[in-house]
Amino acid sequence: MRLILIGPPAGGKGTQAARIKVEYRIAHISTGEMFRAALKAGTPLGKEAEGYMKTGGLVPDNLTIRLVQERLRQPDAHDGFMLDGFPRTRPQAEALEVALAEQSVCLTAVILIHVPDAVITERITGRRTDPATGRIYHLKFDPPSPDVAPRLIHRADDSVEVARERLAKYHAETEPVIPFYEEKGLLRRVEGTGTPDEVFQRVRSVLEPE
Ligand code: AP5
Repeated sequence: MRLILIGPPAGGKGTQAARIKVEYRIAHISTGEMFRAALKAGTPLGKEAEGYMKTGGLVPDNLTIRLVQERLRQPDAHDGFMLDGFPRTRPQAEALEVALAEQSVCLTAVILIHVPDAVITERITGRRTDPATGRIYHLKFDPPSPDVAPRLIHRADDSVEVARERLAKYHAETEPVIPFYEEKGLLRRVEGTGTPDEVFQRVRSVLEPE
C-alpha cells in the first residue's frame, strides 16, 4: 500500500498515521518529523529548514524533494509507505510522480483529512508530544497520564501566530495539490472531526470499501 496523507496543520495526520502504520504495516514518512530530527541533530539541512519552520513557511521544494527521494529509496519503503506532509506544493507532487515512475510503482490512494479552520487553533495550542516515544497527545482531547505529562514538549511552531501562517500556507500552496490527485481518481476525502478512532474508522472504510 502506498499512501499520501494531506490535511491542514494539526488536522490529525500524525494521529491517523500512527494507527495506519500499525494496521497496514507500512513505513511512515513524515517530512515534518524528518526536518525536526535534522534540526535537533544540528545538521546543515536542519539549520536551513529552521527559519522556514519557525515562521510557518514551507521549506524550499528542492531541499524537500531531495529528502523524500532519498527516503523512498530506503529498504523499509519498498513494500509500502505513507507520506505524511508531502507533497505540499504542486512541484512536489510532480516530482513525486517522476520518482515513483522511476521505481515503477503507483500510489494506492491520497487521503485528504478535512478539518474546518475553526477547529485547528484549539488542536494546535493543546498539542503535546512525547520526545521518548513520538506519541502525540492533546491536553483536552487526548490527555496524557500524570507520569508522562512532565516530559511532554510543546512544538516551537505551535503558537497561535505561527499556526495562522501555517494555515494560510496550506490554503495557498497545498490545497492546489488536491485537484492534481482528484483528476487521477486517487483522492479519498475523510471528515477529520470526531474522535481519532472515529476518524480512523472512516480512513479504513475508504481503504477497504465493502
Ligand atoms: P509538519 O510536522 O508536517 O506539520 P503540519 O502539517 O502542520 O502537521 P502537524 O504535525 O502540525 O499536524 P498533524 O496533521 O500531524 O496533526 P496531529 O495528529 O499532530 O510540518 C512542520 C513544518 O515542516 C511545516 O510548517 C514546514 O515548515 C515544514 N515542512 C514539512 N513538510 C514539508 C514539505 N513537504 N514541504 C515544505 N515544508 C515542509 O494532531 C494535532 C493535535 O490534535 C494533537 O494534539 C492531537 O492529539 C489532536 N487530534 C488529532 N486528531 C484529533 C481528533 N480527531 N479529535 C481531537 N483532537 C485530535
